[in-house]
Amino acid sequence: MKMKSDKLYPESKVELNSFSAKNYDRIMNIASFGLYCGFIRKAIQAMDIQSEDKILDLGCGTGRNALIMNAYLNPNGKITCMDNSPVMEEIFKKKCGKYKHIDFIRQRIDQPFDLSDQFDKVWISFVIHGFPHEIRLAVLENVFKHLKTGGLFFMLDFSEFELHEMPALYRFVFQRFECKYAFDFIKRDWKKILSGYHFAKFEEFFFFDRYVRLLRAEKAG
Ligand SMILES: C[S@@+](CC[C@H](N)C(=O)[O-])C[C@H]1O[C@@H](n2cnc3c(N)ncnc32)[C@H](O)[C@@H]1O
Repeated sequence: MKMKSDKLYPESKVELNSFSAKNYDRIMNIASFGLYCGFIRKAIQAMDIQSEDKILDLGCGTGRNALIMNAYLNPNGKITCMDNSPVMEEIFKKKCGKYKHIDFIRQRIDQPFDLSDQFDKVWISFVIHGFPHEIRLAVLENVFKHLKTGGLFFMLDFSEFELHEMPALYRFVFQRFECKYAFDFIKRDWKKILSGYHFAKFEEFFFFDRYVRLLRAEKAG
């Protein structure tokens, strides 16, 4: 008998089940043939983190990224991480619990929230493609509200590309494992969308044969 899904977005693969959440870092290491650690370090290096930055990480997962960011900070810096998964919360707290300036908040990022604070940098990696488009826009509202003017938004996710131009093996893997929302995500013009939210000064960093992009955008005044 088919189990009823408790996901809010049934087609989403970023709303992880318990097994995927528990094994997330391991799965990414295997799926990237061991390249994930080096890749994520390079992407975070491109954030140009300053030692006293206040960073918000949306859909933070296990805390692997927070730990890498943390190496750039002094005790006046701060990382606030959000995820709605109780399994991720447990893993995150084991990994990062001893760092006083890394906080975890169990919170949905696709619904309005108010931290009564604004950040120098907001980071979201491999989350936003997994929502229906109108929900992505709700996430962007949260990003905009929580960034200082002149603050930087970093979106690490699939880049924009034509699926039919992808090499056959990559295409097979993408079509087999990605959710239907991702097919829509790769077709969108994200610089144009972000411009509509008063973001400007875009910079792009590409990885994995340009199929993954770190898009950097500044919140305009
Ligand atoms: C594919 S993982 C990426 C994790 C992390 N950003 C990384 O790059 O390692 C997606 C994460 O988003 C979280 N997530 C999914 N939907 C969410 C939501 N509506 N609100 C908050 N977190 C969410 C999941 O629990 C999971 O940790």
